[in-house]
Amino acid sequence: MTDMDRRDLARAISSAIAAAPDADAALKQTVELLKDGIPDYTWVGIYLMEGDRDLVLGPFVGQPSPHTRIPVGSGICGAAASQKATIVVDDVNADSRYLACSIDTKSEIVVPIMDGSRVLGEIDIDSDKPAAFGSADRELLEPIAALLAERLADREP
Ligand code: SME
Repeated sequence: MTDMDRRDLARAISSAIAAAPDADAALKQTVELLKDGIPDYTWVGIYLMEGDRDLVLGPFVGQPSPHTRIPVGSGICGAAASQKATIVVDDVNADSRYLACSIDTKSEIVVPIMDGSRVLGEIDIDSDKPAAFGSADRELLEPIAALLAERLADREP
């Protein structure tokens, strides 16, 4: 995908997040647009923090995952939540933290959705292609996570 295509996709997602009637719709449209927009994204999902211990699977596109609840600190998802930083794994089978979702998955990116220093959730993307994720993916996904954080923070009590 060219940089221009990615900019168009980023703009489309940003508009969809702004126009969504509520945070749940914003999350759902984001995963659908990312999955449709980038062929290497095999599985796209969002986990949301429940309390301060568990990530619970929200909207996703792709095969159902057995990991619908992941404790912070467990898996690559839990590691990204505890480190409060994006994690890219080029070869999931070489990473002892990895919790398998599909035997076809080769690489993964997890981008936390942060409200200040608080983790609200994360964007989790798997690819069947090895080392599918790089700086262009961070540059696409981190601003999207920031926009989602604004929508999610709105609905906090
Ligand atoms: N691979 C993730 C688990 C979620 S599935 O990929 C959907 C992890 O290691 O945390």
